[in-house]
Amino acid sequence: MPLNKITILPGDGIGPEVIKQGLSVLNAISKKYDHTWEITHALIGASAIDQTGDPFPEASLQACQQADAILLGAIGDPKYDNDPSAKVRPEQGLLRMRKSLGLYANIRPVKIYEQLLHLSVFKPETLKDVDFVIYRELTGGIYFGEKIKEETWSSDLCLYHKYEIERISHLAFKQAMTRKKKVTLVDKANVLETSRLWRSVVQEIAPQYPEVTVDYMFIDNAAMQVILYPSRFDVVLCDNLFGDILSDEASVLSGSMGMLPSASKGEKTALYEPIHGSYPQAAGKDIANPMATILSVEMMLRDFGYFNEADDIINAIDACIQEGYLTEDLRPAIVRKCSEVGALVVSKING
Ligand code: IPM
Ligand code: MG
Repeated sequence: MPLNKITILPGDGIGPEVIKQGLSVLNAISKKYDHTWEITHALIGASAIDQTGDPFPEASLQACQQADAILLGAIGDPKYDNDPSAKVRPEQGLLRMRKSLGLYANIRPVKIYEQLLHLSVFKPETLKDVDFVIYRELTGGIYFGEKIKEETWSSDLCLYHKYEIERISHLAFKQAMTRKKKVTLVDKANVLETSRLWRSVVQEIAPQYPEVTVDYMFIDNAAMQVILYPSRFDVVLCDNLFGDILSDEASVLSGSMGMLPSASKGEKTALYEPIHGSYPQAAGKDIANPMATILSVEMMLRDFGYFNEADDIINAIDACIQEGYLTEDLRPAIVRKCSEVGALVVSKING
């Protein structure tokens, strides 16, 4: 599918400032390669509630439905986190967007940058050869099951249909075929019925990919293995909740959550976003790491076949890292601002 229309959802917290850097990189690429992309901005999250009362207004849904790709900053605001009785929440906008756009596969690559090894809290030998990708189911499970709130009890239903597991599992196996040919299903099949369904579906599908080795790991064990032996993973397949948790944990390996981009794919349009959240304490301070957003732009371009453009971004990011041009989350010797890092990436692209 060609890339013509891009919808931008800056969202909340540091979202708008990291998006600004992502867009200036996109702009540099479009000038350099003479591309024209039609760019539309739309509201989501707490900022959408403030302006319209709805965390994902109809106009935003339409802008997303018309887009070939969507670039999202972050959503969330502490004023809702600390108010369990809030009727409208920013996250509802995100979940409604994922569901209504059919974005069932969330892809989160975990990559290590050699030049950041010395800043890591891990031993270099632990991080050697780490290169895996998390395939997180995004439109089912406990996030979307029936919710009941009574006076003295509450319940969240975790429901999975076979087809929901099948479609993401096929994507995970296909991805594994292009990589180290290993899929690890992470679940809690010793306790949960839904996890046993995941296992049986994966076992059913696996023979279609005879070159791929499959292993199974309980989530509690996986949480430990990801930190102790991260290089053993290739494609990690998880349900919605386990994938959410495991991907935050895995991001620590790369030095900071601020380094990890993600893609969400499904029935039609695809969405690209940094995995970090809205980081409200940093909002407006120009201290957030823009690299995850810039790398999300890179993933978007690569998915649409713009390989030279995407390589330019990777090379520019590598050059910034090489020069130690980093924001505070990476604990560098000299701390740079979000806008400074973005500007350096742009100048490297311009050559
Ligand atoms: C993520 C986020 C969201 C999620 C929140 C903001 C609802 O943590 O994209 O990982 O849990 O899916
Ligand atoms: Mg999360």
